[in-house]
Amino acid sequence: MSDLAWSDAQLKEVAATYGTPCYVYRQDLLEQFADAWINALGDRGTVCYAVKANSNLAVLQILARRGCGFDIVSEGELHRVIAAGGSPKKIVFSGVGKSFDAIRFALEQQIKCFNVESLRELDHINSIAESMGVIAPVSLRVNPNVDAKTHPYISTGLKENKFGIAADQVIDAYQHASSLTSLSVIGIDCHIGSQITEAEPFMDALEKVLAWVEELESLGITLQHIDLGGGLGVRYDNETPPQPAEIIARVLARLANRTEQLIFEPGRSITANAGVLLSQVLLTKHNGEHNFAIIDAAMNDLARPSLYQSWQRIQVIDPPEDATPLHWDIVGPICETGDFIAKQRPLCLAEQSLLVIHSAGAYGFSMASNYNSRRRAAEIILSDRCMHLARARESYTSLYRDEYLFEG
Ligand code: LLP
Repeated sequence: MSDLAWSDAQLKEVAATYGTPCYVYRQDLLEQFADAWINALGDRGTVCYAVKANSNLAVLQILARRGCGFDIVSEGELHRVIAAGGSPKKIVFSGVGKSFDAIRFALEQQIKCFNVESLRELDHINSIAESMGVIAPVSLRVNPNVDAKTHPYISTGLKENKFGIAADQVIDAYQHASSLTSLSVIGIDCHIGSQITEAEPFMDALEKVLAWVEELESLGITLQHIDLGGGLGVRYDNETPPQPAEIIARVLARLANRTEQLIFEPGRSITANAGVLLSQVLLTKHNGEHNFAIIDAAMNDLARPSLYQSWQRIQVIDPPEDATPLHWDIVGPICETGDFIAKQRPLCLAEQSLLVIHSAGAYGFSMASNYNSRRRAAEIILSDRCMHLARARESYTSLYRDEYLFEG
């Protein structure tokens, strides 16, 4: 088990070498957080890392080598996993609307299964598979109507959400799927939300899923796997989410008399605390009662605070000794009041201070944009042996490389 603390000296070296803002991930922590799932699950199933949380190729490569499969939601993610050396045999394809091209490409690659969320999509996959002369393995994503007790934007298992097949349509959907000749119905799937900090919502969802599994069995539809999705929360501040081992032990105990394989789709719990965002203070400014530290990272680099009012720990490396701590609003240079990384943080900082924004390895770079024509940050992986540039900072020309001047 490696030390969760980050070395200031190493982070300073990264900033000096690659500049800021930049994302830094640690190989040892990525492996440790992946192992927590893989070891607890053993040979009872597959850990399909949710690529959306952090889709950097080198990160995917590290996780693939560790034994992870992948949960993808787009053709782009499928391309990434293949480029990173992930096995299509361990890929599940989630998402409420898959393009026909993506379905065709996934069938060509012979992925493990499609997680399907509607009757229409069953028909689409069936006809594409039929036209290719193949059988598509499918699992149905059901909506168990369970409250994950998390932020409304990242809660997905309530009946008012767009996700999954509604409880009263599940049996009909399975019967429909079984009647389609180019589908092989192999699983059941649910994902109830993200940053879930208790075990109960997972167990409640499992109960609902098991009731369906048993009802389907009585109708002659037997399944090979149960996929409980992702969603396990992490510690950003003082949350105390259960460990993967605890969730898995409880699920396995409940499934003691059953033989289905299990799939989990963790994203955040593998990458969030394996990464930080490094940023430098450009200048400080005092408006009325507010002390602003304007930093070189912004909402385009890390959208979570603006989008979900999320809290991420901020540490100042080598804080100035003579400064009195003030309550700082840590903001980016983007022309939006919503462009903030943190508010009212008691910190000692000065211009040029190097800030470490913790727990940024999940939904950080993967949600970054070029808003305000800002180049997306560099990504660096720290290993025992080296600092590896996993993605270079974008160049200015790459910002408009795919644009064409009007020649009228
Ligand atoms: N499986 C499915 C079908 C999902 O929709 C998601 C996440 C996951 C697995 C992985 O969930 P995780 O283990 O990472 O919680 N951008 C938001 C989080 C959105 C999550 C979307 N779905 C954030 O920054 O908090």
